[in-house]
Amino acid sequence: MSFQLTAEQEMIRLMARDFAKKELEPFAGEWDRKEIFPEKAIGKMGGLGLMGMMVPVEYGGAGVGAVSYSLALQEIAYACASTAVTMSVNNLSSDPILQFGSEEQKQRYLLPLAGGEMLGAFAVTESEAGSDPGNITTRAEDCGDHFLVNGSKLFITNGNRADVIILIARTVSEKSNRGLSAFLLTKGTPGFRIGRREDKLGLRASDTVELLFEDCRIPKENLLGKEGSGFKIAMVALDSGRIGIASQSLGIARACLHESIRYAKTRKQFGKNISSFQAVQWMIADTAAEIEAASWLTLSAADRKDQGIPFTKEASMAKLFASEMANRAAYRALQIHGGYGYMKEYKVERLYRDARVTTIYEGTSEIQRIVIAREVMQD
Ligand code: CAA
Repeated sequence: MSFQLTAEQEMIRLMARDFAKKELEPFAGEWDRKEIFPEKAIGKMGGLGLMGMMVPVEYGGAGVGAVSYSLALQEIAYACASTAVTMSVNNLSSDPILQFGSEEQKQRYLLPLAGGEMLGAFAVTESEAGSDPGNITTRAEDCGDHFLVNGSKLFITNGNRADVIILIARTVSEKSNRGLSAFLLTKGTPGFRIGRREDKLGLRASDTVELLFEDCRIPKENLLGKEGSGFKIAMVALDSGRIGIASQSLGIARACLHESIRYAKTRKQFGKNISSFQAVQWMIADTAAEIEAASWLTLSAADRKDQGIPFTKEASMAKLFASEMANRAAYRALQIHGGYGYMKEYKVERLYRDARVTTIYEGTSEIQRIVIAREVMQD
C-alpha cells in the first residue's frame, strides 16, 4: 500500500495551485459580492485541461484520472468554491456521456465539454424530487422521431450557462425509478427556457437556475443510454460527483485552516497572540486532523475509481465526512476570528457561507448515510 502521490499527480496539484493563486484567489471575494460568474477563468481552465481531467485523451480530456482531478479541484476550491462547483458539475455532465453515450454523442458533446469549449449541467432535481429522484414528474413523451418534454427542474448549477444538460425525465407515467430516462438537452432547444435565477446564501459566483419545459422537442438521437435507465445513469454519475464535492469541501476546509492560523498568529488579546491560547490551538488541531482524515477518505474513493473497483460506499463516506468536516472547520475559523469573522471584510465569512451547501447538494448527509448503511449491511 502506497501513500505517495505520483510525480504526475504532484505536478498537477502544483499547476492547479499556481493557477488558482493567480487567476482565482485575488478576485473570488469580488465575484462573490457582485455575483459575477468567472467566465474568463473557466475558459482558461479549459485550456489547461482542468475541465475534462477524467475524460480520456481520445475524447479531448486530460485522461489523468480521479485522484488528479480531486487534487486539482481541492486547489480550485481553496481559492474559489464557486469556480470549484462549476468545474465539478461540468464533470458530472461529462461522466454519463463517457459511460453511457454513443460514439456519435461522445464526438459531438464529450469532446467540447472536456476541452472547455462547452459547459455542462446536470438536471435531476425538481420541487418535489430532491433526495427522492424516483418522484420526478417532468415528462418526456415518445412522439416518434422526438420526445416532447413538459415540466421543470430546480436548483440547476450551470443551468443558464450550459451548452449541454443531462436531463432526467419520466418516460413512463407510473411513478417508479425504472420509468426515468436520460437525455442530452442542448441550449436553444425550442420549448426550453431558463426560469428563476436563485439568490443563494453561498457560492454566489456560481450559476443556479430553474429550467422550464413547455412542449420542448428533444430529438430521439439525444436519448442517453437506454430508455428507462435514467435513474441508474444519475446514480452512477452522482457516485463520481460526490468525490468532487468531497474535494470541494476539502479545499474550503484548508482555506479555513490557513485563515485561522494566519489570524491567530497576529490577533492579540490579553497581551498575547491568541495562537498561544490552548483553546485556539485545539480548534486548529481538530481542523488539521480532520482535514487529513477527509483527505485520505477522498483520495481512497478516487483511487478506487481509477482502478475500476466499485466506489459507491467510499464516495458517500468521503462526501459525508468531508462536507460535515468543512462546516466544522468554517465554524471554528469564524469563532477564532470572533466579531471580525462575522464581517464581510474577512474571507472566513465567505468560506462559512460556501461550506454550508456541501452537506446538502449531490445527496444530503442523510442520503449518504442511507447509501453507506445499505452497502455496509450488504457486505
Ligand atoms: N450505481 C448504480 N446503480 C445504482 C446505484 C449506484 N450508485 N444506486 C442505486 N442503483 C440502482 C439500484 O441497484 C436499483 O436497480 P434495480 O432497479 O435494477 O434494482 C435502482 O438503482 C434503484 O435503487 P434504489 O432502490 O436503491 O433507489 P431508492 O429510490 O431507494 O434511492 C438513494 C436510493 C440512494 C436514496 C437515491 O435516491 C439517492 O442517491 N438520492 C439522492 C439524490 C441526489 O443526490 N440528488 C442531488 C441532485 S444533483 C445535484 O445536487 C447537482 C448540483 O447541482 C451540484
